[in-house]
Amino acid sequence: MNIPLLRTSLLERRYKTAHTQIDLFKQLCFEMSEKDTVSIMGASGSGKSTLLHAMGGLDCPDAGEVFFRGDSIYKMGHRWRGTYRNQHVGFIFQSYHLLSELTIQENVALPAQIHKGRKNAMHMAEELLDAIGLSDRLTHRPQELSGGEQQRVAIARALVNNPSLILADEPTGNLDAATGEKVLHYLFQLIESRGHSLVLVTHTQQVAELCAKNYMLKAGILKEVDV
Ligand SMILES: Nc1ncnc2c1ncn2[C@@H]1O[C@H](COP(=O)(O)OP(=O)(O)OP(=O)(O)O)[C@@H](O)[C@H]1O
Ligand SMILES: [Mg+2]
Repeated sequence: MNIPLLRTSLLERRYKTAHTQIDLFKQLCFEMSEKDTVSIMGASGSGKSTLLHAMGGLDCPDAGEVFFRGDSIYKMGHRWRGTYRNQHVGFIFQSYHLLSELTIQENVALPAQIHKGRKNAMHMAEELLDAIGLSDRLTHRPQELSGGEQQRVAIARALVNNPSLILADEPTGNLDAATGEKVLHYLFQLIESRGHSLVLVTHTQQVAELCAKNYMLKAGILKEVDV
């Protein structure tokens, strides 16, 4: 039997505020295989980012489990989860979260430096930046790049440790349509050529269509849909 790359079982997450309680997921179940590409759409506030964080080991659900290749990630120790986040997951956010005091190449190399050493990490960063069309920007700082270029750097950084799972939260949400298209072109090219799997949160149908499977998060339930 094939073990899924990622599986969530009966996931629940609730937020309590002074007067109300928000129940985000209703025993949410989901699974994906190695090399799957999956989109998640849903209204603002439906819990897409929260779900992505739960999948990536960043936000412990109130009930239920997240399994990565059969391991229940919140039942493993925090060291295991640290390795999971660093080695097996690559996060791409809507705002790029690059470090302004580092060069582009150093930003991309950073997640790989602990395990591979600075020299190897910088070499891998150079290769990725070349693949993503930014080889002439290695020594620039993030603030010297356009939004689309910064997001391509963030993609290279997410991929530098060759993670099996890429989690992207509205990666083109801050970009105009043409720039967003270019960024997605690079992202999907890299994902296909390197065999990553992808969970992509988006508000845009044309972006969702780039993935092989499409889901809608509504009223706490994740349902596969045709787009
Ligand atoms: N720390 C928190 N405390 C209280 N409520 C929270 C907290 N984090 C998120 N929420 C609530 O949970 C709900 C889901 O938030 P989430 O960010 O996952 O939505 P989303 O689907 O990603 O929305 P968007 O499309 O706007 O990014 C929202 O109603 C939000 O207000
Ligand atoms: Mg969100």
